[in-house]
Amino acid sequence: MNHEKTILITGGAGYVGSHTCKAVSEAGYLPVTYDNLSRGHDWSVKWGPLEVGDIRDKDRLDEVIRTYHPIAVMHFAAFAYVGESTEKPGLYYDNNVSGSINLIETVRRHDIRYFIFSSSCATYGDPEQIPITENHPLRPINPYGESKLMVERILRDYHAAGQFHTAVLRYFNAAGADPQLETGECHDPETHLIPTILKVATGENAALEIHGDDYDTGDGTCIRDFVHVTDLASGHVKALDYIRDRKDAITVNLGTGNGYTVNEVVRMSESISNRPVARSIGNRRPGDAPVLVASADRAKQMLNWEPKFSDLNTIISTAWRWEQRLKPYRNSADDD
Ligand SMILES: NC(=O)c1ccc[n+]([C@@H]2O[C@H](COP(=O)([O-])OP(=O)(O)OC[C@H]3O[C@@H](n4cnc5c(N)ncnc54)[C@H](O)[C@@H]3O)[C@@H](O)[C@H]2O)c1
Repeated sequence: MNHEKTILITGGAGYVGSHTCKAVSEAGYLPVTYDNLSRGHDWSVKWGPLEVGDIRDKDRLDEVIRTYHPIAVMHFAAFAYVGESTEKPGLYYDNNVSGSINLIETVRRHDIRYFIFSSSCATYGDPEQIPITENHPLRPINPYGESKLMVERILRDYHAAGQFHTAVLRYFNAAGADPQLETGECHDPETHLIPTILKVATGENAALEIHGDDYDTGDGTCIRDFVHVTDLASGHVKALDYIRDRKDAITVNLGTGNGYTVNEVVRMSESISNRPVARSIGNRRPGDAPVLVASADRAKQMLNWEPKFSDLNTIISTAWRWEQRLKPYRNSADDD
């Protein structure tokens, strides 16, 4: 094994992490997944070893790092449901913040110099201007967003102390599935819009609840910036190359700059699946910003990153093909 090329991927059994394992493997690295499988799946770990462990477990982390000697860490492991974070903030601060501190300190002791962190547009809160640039004020409106911002600040301080070169990647709405269908999204409960719509199209769910149709957005439903998960994955490879070359710390949005309303996404999903999607209009959800759209300029200028799969048609088409492939995986996940 070429240890020079190993990357530790926390949360590599999850949605974005598994697609990133594929991308880093294609770029010539060995991805070592470190995941407690609390919300991920062993079947999605295909491009390198799976080491089952918790980021809050120092001894287990030490053992895995001593075995593989990674040159970099990509840190996806976290809980990522906004609603759950509001109900159980302690769970989020424990897993996302204490877990990250434990990981960061362990990584520092092993003198690993490159750290890439999955942050979120939830760090911006309710945006004052659209598109949202990286310099927008950071005022999260839920514990999930707070937990991400806290880790961003911890990493900033470690970089300032000369301990890490860091890339903080603020994703907008991850969506779609690997075009070869080698992995894809499988959450329970599923809260992301596109799979939720498609589960109505497959008949798995009876109807889609739209959370408010009285926003000032044209058709009244919220606007989101959907970025294909394969594009997110390639952004990680480019960010690693960048911080390895420049020995720098960067913060970059990963979004497309294009927004779609919920109704537009439903209509395109109906047309791609060729099935009707029954829907009902519910109340607005607290903490839902009407419009979240990234400025993608910095990612393009700094990383030369341009989304290749993030047009809405490709996103929904890959997600639809994956939804239909998912059943056998679901059954094996149930056996876990
Ligand atoms: N999916 C999105 O739209 C989105 C948007 C912005 C940011 N993010 C961030 O990207 C990352 C990945 O998101 P995702 O959608 O792939 O989530 P996911 O739930 O599919 O994956 C997270 C993985 O981390 C693992 N994990 C959780 N806690 C752990 C712990 N203590 N120790 C070890 N493993 C642990 C889970 O088992 C799971 O496999 C998260 O940090 C999330 O906050 C996601």
